Amino acid sequence: MSTVVTERRSQGPPIRQTQLFIDGQWTPSRSGNTFTTIDPATEEVIAQVAEGDAADVEMAVRAARRAFDDGPWPRMNARERGRIMLRLADLIEAEIDELAALEALDNGKPVRDARTGDIPLALDCLRYYAGWADKIHGQTIPINGDYFCYTRREPVGVAGQIIPWNFPILMVAWKWGPALAAGCTIVMKPAEQTPLTCLRLARLAQEAGVPDGVINVVPGYGPTAGAAIVRHPGIDKVAFTGSGETAQVIMRQAADHLKRLTFELGGKSPNIVFADADLDAAAAGAHVGIYLNQGQCCCAGSRLFVEDRIHDAFVERVVAESRSRRVGDPFDPATQQGPQVDRAQFDKIMGYVEAGRREGATLATGGGRVGERGFFIEPTVFTNVRDEMAIAREEIFGPVLSVLRFSDVDELIRRANATSFGLAAAVWTRDVARAHDVARRLRAGTVWVNCYDVFDAAAPFGGFKQSGFGRELGEKGLEPYLEHKTVTVSLA
Ligand code: NAI
Ligand code: MG
Repeated sequence: MSTVVTERRSQGPPIRQTQLFIDGQWTPSRSGNTFTTIDPATEEVIAQVAEGDAADVEMAVRAARRAFDDGPWPRMNARERGRIMLRLADLIEAEIDELAALEALDNGKPVRDARTGDIPLALDCLRYYAGWADKIHGQTIPINGDYFCYTRREPVGVAGQIIPWNFPILMVAWKWGPALAAGCTIVMKPAEQTPLTCLRLARLAQEAGVPDGVINVVPGYGPTAGAAIVRHPGIDKVAFTGSGETAQVIMRQAADHLKRLTFELGGKSPNIVFADADLDAAAAGAHVGIYLNQGQCCCAGSRLFVEDRIHDAFVERVVAESRSRRVGDPFDPATQQGPQVDRAQFDKIMGYVEAGRREGATLATGGGRVGERGFFIEPTVFTNVRDEMAIAREEIFGPVLSVLRFSDVDELIRRANATSFGLAAAVWTRDVARAHDVARRLRAGTVWVNCYDVFDAAAPFGGFKQSGFGRELGEKGLEPYLEHKTVTVSLA
């Protein structure tokens, strides 16, 4: 097999920020250590990035604390906060091509996806929350007695935000948007695989007028920089997106100071196709559901339940479409699928392919590496998957679809819900009553009907069960960044 990307990218986007961003200053790490971030399409080093650890987090928390306790951000006119956020969105939009290229280079996602998907969604999120900044208000409450009682909603304080590598820019927007609107200050750790766009966004935030210390970015590794954020007594709240295993560690460590926590974790989402569905749309939905972002989506529709009567014909289509999917250079506009983010993810996914074979599922297509360099994997479909197989139970986080067959609705619901996850689900049918009935019975934070991966800044997103707690986006997404204060005034 040939190599997918042959040329070293001499013409890549400029890499402007590689240091820590603390209190409005760019600084090397106190240890002087750096780590490499690579281009997953070529496995070549893109840049050396300052590696923060506990000592740097200490500085970042102090800056964020000062900015919260004494600084202008939580005190300024709320509408002005909103205006600064809108300016940040405008600056991002003005640089959309460069940012999309940087995202594609660091993460491996097709530049077209970043340009038309990730970044527009990030802009929408920042603008949506900018609009909330001056609409966060309390209530007046008619309590017994001669009192005037009202509530205030106040920022929770310094937010520690730890994000993954699958949607680096979008995750920044999901985290900064509500935190900034609420008047919080931030210590963020981007994923070690993809630090570059987050650093760029910090620069743009400064340009937009976000005061020093409000946003601090400390790139580095989880057990060092990440854990220091979680443990630091100066952090009031931790927002985390990533794996359930890491969330468990974080929850234990956050217990010492009873930090507020929100978790957005993984999934094994059922994508359910009834025989009466619009099968063209459902096949396209199955495709998007599993392959979007190289399969590296927390809400990937990785369990495709297909009704018995249409199973074989439908699966044939899904397999054919998988075969025609264009895997290749993220910078080629025709590319639909780039490489997985790193070797660890590549190896994990290939391990699941092996497990699927070993456990007796049928490998209908794919299963191999594409090329010899870069972490490219063929779009892969397993059929004859049984519920107890690892590929039907565990999050693969790659372009690997498990097809399961069903005939009876009650049995389908039981099987779809027989998972420790509960992030998302989809149902495809023309029967309105059945759509709503199934949507009601699925234990998942999001249910899509006759669509998949439809996101909007106004619509809350998050998990049931071990897919996390708390919600992001929408009004619900503000809540974790706010405290409620009750003020009772004697009128006597
Ligand atoms: P991870 O959960 O270890 O990493 C996510 C973030 O947490 C990164 O910024 C990492 O540096 C940080 N982190 C790691 N250990 C930490 C600790 N002890 N304290 C504080 N922060 C810590 O996920 P990883 O290893 O990148 O991927 C493993 C699997 O997790 C994936 O294969 C996938 O199944 C799942 N995952 C789910 C995501 C989602 O969107 N829900 C995103 C990324 C991964
Ligand atoms: Mg990288």
